[in-house]
Amino acid sequence: MKDRITGLTDMHTHIVCGIDDGAANLRAMKKMLEMAYQDGIRHIISTPHFMPGRRKFDEATYQKSFALAQQYMEQIADDFDLYQGNEIYFHEQALPELQNGHIHTLADGPYILVEFNPQREFLYIRQSLRLLQERGYRVILAHAERMKHLNQIERIEELVERGIYIQVNADSIMGKNGHTLKQLSRQMLRESLVHFVASDCHDTTKRPPMLSACYRKIAKRYGEHMAHALMRLNPQAILEGKPL
Ligand SMILES: [Fe+2]
Repeated sequence: MKDRITGLTDMHTHIVCGIDDGAANLRAMKKMLEMAYQDGIRHIISTPHFMPGRRKFDEATYQKSFALAQQYMEQIADDFDLYQGNEIYFHEQALPELQNGHIHTLADGPYILVEFNPQREFLYIRQSLRLLQERGYRVILAHAERMKHLNQIERIEELVERGIYIQVNADSIMGKNGHTLKQLSRQMLRESLVHFVASDCHDTTKRPPMLSACYRKIAKRYGEHMAHALMRLNPQAILEGKPL
């Protein structure tokens, strides 16, 4: 029997229901929470989409669903925690929305999770991330492997040199998003250009809240220390608000 993987932290999830295109309802959310726990995930950061200028974020609904998720997690186990956050779709309004406190930083700390339209040009991404850094945030680029213009490893390297943190989806590493993303994400791993691997879960089937298979894959190919850093140590630093 395979060793049981546990103590994982999933730092990019759409597991809280009724707030974005993630968990569709309470039933789906409960099922996703059960799956996550069974898969060895013990800490979850909920990161519903915040899309300034595109869609209104319903904070009241978020708080209500978040509390329901926490209640259910208490029923599942004592060692199962949920933290607030957002996945920020970058837009010129993102900065004012961050500074007026409408957008949640990850676990109320200095880290933020930022996504872009996948077609965005490299220079736009680089400049926008820098603007956020200049305001003092620790900036994590969500599923960097999906950005069309980051398909050259030198560009990702440049962002990392500038202090940007890189998150990759477990599905991409496992090959579920096609050969190109699998190759790129594995090249990023090989060259130590990844800081976080997360599920980016949206449901129970196509994008489920699971990390252990990817943990095993990374441990086997690149060493246990890397899997441990990407799914335990580094995301734990987010929860504690500490540098990586
Ligand atoms: Fe996401």
